[in-house]
Amino acid sequence: MSNGKVEIFDTTLRDGEQVPGCKLNTVQKLKIAEELDSLGVDVIEAGFPVSSPGDFKSVQEISKLVKNASVCGLTRAVKKDIEVAAEALKFAKRPRIHTGIGTSDSHIKYKFNSTREEIIVRAREAVSYAKNFVDDVEFYAEDAGRTDNEYLARVCTAAVEAGATVLNIPDTTGYCLPEEYGKKIKYLKEHVKNIDKVTISCHCHNDLGLATANAIAGIMNGARQIECTINGIGERAGNTALEEVVMILRQHPTLNLHTNIQPKLLYALSNLVSREMGMFVQPNKAIVGANAFAHSSGIHQDGVIKNRETYEIIDPADVGVTESAIILTARSGRAALAYKAKKMGYELTKLQLDIVYAEFLNYADHRKEVADTDLHEIMSISFKNR
Ligand code: KIV
Ligand code: ZN
Repeated sequence: MSNGKVEIFDTTLRDGEQVPGCKLNTVQKLKIAEELDSLGVDVIEAGFPVSSPGDFKSVQEISKLVKNASVCGLTRAVKKDIEVAAEALKFAKRPRIHTGIGTSDSHIKYKFNSTREEIIVRAREAVSYAKNFVDDVEFYAEDAGRTDNEYLARVCTAAVEAGATVLNIPDTTGYCLPEEYGKKIKYLKEHVKNIDKVTISCHCHNDLGLATANAIAGIMNGARQIECTINGIGERAGNTALEEVVMILRQHPTLNLHTNIQPKLLYALSNLVSREMGMFVQPNKAIVGANAFAHSSGIHQDGVIKNRETYEIIDPADVGVTESAIILTARSGRAALAYKAKKMGYELTKLQLDIVYAEFLNYADHRKEVADTDLHEIMSISFKNR
């Protein structure tokens, strides 16, 4: 793996599916998994096999289907979970078991009624047990975001000694600031023994709207895998959005970091996940929201019509969106009106444009936006008595 390659670990089908009311059946999961594989993700976390027979079946079927990506199953640091995950993954070309345990003081005290030392023992045992079934074992230190760095480094060292290939450092509660999360990764790079033999993974939640920023901070400090979901869906406020991290790395070539993702497929996959999950994408969502390439104020529209780059940092075609949208509103100017009218077949002289524009403003002031059908009506009103 070259040092600039960032692995994309997609967890839409596991953490993403933990959204209330967004249960997917096996057929739906297979459809999404196939598209994720074509998109170029490196790892598909297909589910949590011990959690239900349905999830077991989904992981098993996805393992049979996926051609390129590693297929991963989540477990707790519990033997039974690991055995069931190994069974569900047995048809995968590249199986990965993702096992781990909570490491923050509140998890140790309230979830496990345990001690720091005991948690290290359980972490080590879980990884070594998983190694009996697969070579590729990822260890997660749940709530690493709120775990003190010194202790976290000890847990991670134990996991690496036991054979972990990837160390996942989740900011489970979305608490960290980007600088803090970045420093945590740097600290682990400097203090975990044999860290250069494994990949550090960022798994960030969005409770404070920082999931993407934190994942990027992690990558800039030496992590080389990002765990993310399509449309950023997931528990509570969601996970790092796949489309965001991929496009951040692509739009900033000076970072010298790249992924395997085919960005042109992003928009279609966003729509597929939204449809299958029954979860709409907020219009202002970066990259894939309905307004991500829509312009509605006169100053912006005038700029974009002259040259797209004035207000767009991404060519919409690069992520599979046909073209930028010019939305007519009461804030639109003559340039946008003339542009839209021309697209609809009306070539207006300067004088005609003035007449239509006056009528348009009267109309637009009473509406949120002016649709193409409205514009036809405005045209006929404008020229009715002339
Ligand atoms: O957020 C989290 O800590 C997780 C782990 C189970 C990986 O999803
Ligand atoms: Zn998570």
